[in-house]
Amino acid sequence: MTGHGKGERRKQPNRRGTGVDRRKTLGGSAPQERRAAERRSQDRRSAGQRLEVILDITRQLMAVTDLDALLHTMAEQTANLLGADRATIYVIDRERNELWSRVALGAGEIRFPIGRGIAGTVAQTGETINISDAYKDPRFNPEPDRLSGYQTKSLLTFPMKGNEGRVIGVFQVVNKKGGGPFNAEDENTLASLGASAAVAVENAQLVAEQKRLWQSLIETLATTVDARDQQTAGHSQRVTRYATIIGRSMGWMGKDLEKLQAAALLHDYGKIAVRDQFLQKPGKLDEAELAYMKAHAEKTAEFLARLVFPLDMREVPMIASQHHERMDGKGYPRGLNADRIHIGARIVAAADVFDALTAPRYYKPAYPLDKTMELMKEMTGPHLDPRVMEAVRRAIPELARAMDELKSTWPKPTDEGMGTIAEAALSERDAATAATKT
Ligand SMILES: [Fe+2]
Ligand SMILES: [Fe+2]
Repeated sequence: MTGHGKGERRKQPNRRGTGVDRRKTLGGSAPQERRAAERRSQDRRSAGQRLEVILDITRQLMAVTDLDALLHTMAEQTANLLGADRATIYVIDRERNELWSRVALGAGEIRFPIGRGIAGTVAQTGETINISDAYKDPRFNPEPDRLSGYQTKSLLTFPMKGNEGRVIGVFQVVNKKGGGPFNAEDENTLASLGASAAVAVENAQLVAEQKRLWQSLIETLATTVDARDQQTAGHSQRVTRYATIIGRSMGWMGKDLEKLQAAALLHDYGKIAVRDQFLQKPGKLDEAELAYMKAHAEKTAEFLARLVFPLDMREVPMIASQHHERMDGKGYPRGLNADRIHIGARIVAAADVFDALTAPRYYKPAYPLDKTMELMKEMTGPHLDPRVMEAVRRAIPELARAMDELKSTWPKPTDEGMGTIAEAALSERDAATAATKT
């Protein structure tokens, strides 16, 4: 730790009134004393205002929806409040053992290892650093200044600590306007705001972690069902990609799109309960076998009903299980009329048929795009939703690109059962049959 001679001190966060080197502030020349006195009186005047801003930011935290936007506002207000030229909020990336600037006012994204520079030291030690002249401190890393042409002078750097006292980020303000160091009041203000920012960052990290866990769970479920049958290898992933393109073409975004993607990934999950002999039968299925095969849609609903979906995803099982319903009410498992089929399910249905036709199956080769579109046109109205099909047509170039990229996930001709494709079988196994086996 560097001594007071360098106008610096470190302290534990939240300990009031120990921040600034008084000798440095009070012991200088007359103009320095005048400036210090002005700053003290300004600090007293603004104490109420500071509290108001702190409370206001804390209130905003309660309703946080966009963390980056909130942190940006927080950095801006903190810089104003403390009379700082810049403010940066760094978040720790534990996987890479780095700090990165989630919000950097007046600078681009910065990344550096924990332990490096002032912010890196604060991240490592968990102690506040308040220095009046960065260039006199050996821990200061002048590289960002050199690259940007900026001149750092005073620095106040505070550790943001999470629930268990672990440092999760660093809050830093740079260059007190009017010169001189940041004072004890600044330290206290930053401590309060830093604590609020820590809550926001930790919550956001928790939500992101839960989301990753959830996503990996549904992807694993989809992979499990695709792996049961080589002819449908990668089917769920492809249907998800196509449904996303069609959804976007219809103007879907955000949560709606996420819901659609989850339903597309899981739409055939019920196939986990269909016996291999029916799943992999190369020839035509008889009535009883077809009924058994069709039960997968009902099974999808049944299995997914056991998963506790987040509130905004509660429709996923319903959307997934309706992917074989038809607009004319002749679909399965419920034979729902058009107005009772969720629009998301109509999108998944189109994406499902698109993949069944474009990818090779036991009973059919990969159809080219123009033949696929021709067959889907015939299905529009009684089977597929005309509104969804309009979106499909608008998205043809994008669907074609995705299909080319996804060809590597198609079943290979050498895969078990794939060599049994018989040209003679193609006429009886036309689009309609293909669609019932999707
Ligand atoms: Fe499917
Ligand atoms: Fe299906």
